[in-house]
Amino acid sequence: MKTLSPSLLSADFSKLSEELATVKNAGAQYIHLDIMDGHFVPNITFGAPVLRSIRKVTDLVFDVHLMIENPENYLADFASAGADILNVHFEACTDLGKIIDKIHSLGCKAGVTVKPDTPVEAVASVLDKVDMVLVMTVYPGFSGQKFIPEALNKIPALVKARKERKLNFDIQIDGGVSLSNLRQVLDAGADSIVAGSAVFGAENPGEAVAEFMNIIREYE
Ligand code: DX5
Ligand code: ZN
Repeated sequence: MKTLSPSLLSADFSKLSEELATVKNAGAQYIHLDIMDGHFVPNITFGAPVLRSIRKVTDLVFDVHLMIENPENYLADFASAGADILNVHFEACTDLGKIIDKIHSLGCKAGVTVKPDTPVEAVASVLDKVDMVLVMTVYPGFSGQKFIPEALNKIPALVKARKERKLNFDIQIDGGVSLSNLRQVLDAGADSIVAGSAVFGAENPGEAVAEFMNIIREYE
């Protein structure tokens, strides 16, 4: 299944439950939750208490993108707050294999993320352990940045490794995705699409999700 994961970072935080209902009703399956600590990235967002609150009002899959240092110290918090997928940055982990095992032991799916400058070969040794590989198409830290198309060049190597090694992780793309480059991203082989400003920054977020989903479904 190809999935859309609207990024809550671009939502109106004064009405989160409405925003969640809007994207869910329009067909999104995931909600992307960007956790930033002001160290790994130069910005701060929100933490586990926000997840715990919104967990009560939605059954969207919580797709948690941890842009934090020492992610191992916070995995249990986010798992108990309702995370379904915990995605850690390759660049933030000293023992990636151990962190992925810990995520699984907490009952969550595990993902690994690479920044635009990190070659995808860096995560080759954990491909048999992860449920998702997130390829960033912007430098992490802010929504609304310009899409970096060259990052898509990492996808074929992932698709090849998945096929040859008979693995089944999803490939997610995050950063600067809009209706105008969505086909380019799907043609490259993405399974899961994150979109922040293109969904919640649209005049009608529900319509934006419906338009994304119409195109995404063509690729199933
Ligand atoms: C950036 C975040 C993204 C961001 C996406 O660091 O990881 O998830 O919210 O926002 P857009 O789609 O506006 O680039
Ligand atoms: Zn993200």
